[in-house]
Amino acid sequence: MNKAQRDDLLQQMLETEMGGVKIYTTALQCVLNADLKEEWEKYLDQTKNHVSIVQKLMSELGVEPKETPSRKVVRHIGEALVQAMTMARQSDAPKQAAEIVACECVSLAETKDHGNWELLTKYGEAAKGDEKKAIEAAIDEVEDQEDEHLYHSKGWGRELAIAALGMKAVLPPPEEQKDVKTAIGAARAKAARKEMM
Ligand SMILES: [Fe+2]
Ligand SMILES: [Fe+2]
Repeated sequence: MNKAQRDDLLQQMLETEMGGVKIYTTALQCVLNADLKEEWEKYLDQTKNHVSIVQKLMSELGVEPKETPSRKVVRHIGEALVQAMTMARQSDAPKQAAEIVACECVSLAETKDHGNWELLTKYGEAAKGDEKKAIEAAIDEVEDQEDEHLYHSKGWGRELAIAALGMKAVLPPPEEQKDVKTAIGAARAKAARKEMM
């Protein structure tokens, strides 16, 4: 397997989680719904913990955190998401619009975050010995949380946007009510939204 690419993935993961802390901190300034606020406060704490988990894994695998071209790209996108939310919050648009923008930005960030961990899972399945053990221990702590971060945030964004269009929304979203942790579960929850209204 390509160790250099594994190391690059870990650098990207560290940057993604660090960016995630800033993204949730900014998103929480845009949030209006009390349930969503509570969710994102939890996700912020979990993301802070993910930074530590990635740092620990890197040190166990002997990978020194450093600047890489891929990290710069991840940071650039993360900063753009923070800027987009700030722009929305400071605009003349109704406050609800900034809350929806925050949902979109969180979903975009969590798509990358979730993708990173999914890739590391694939790598861990093929790895051996101490390397495998270290990777699996990290994934064990994080996996379910990343599923929730992505699928639940997407659900919030969809339902709040539906409500903004003047239609009946399911709040909290079906993904959260059904405690969805897989892509199939998210698709099922979305399909069941009519019955949940
Ligand atoms: Fe994370
Ligand atoms: Fe996450």
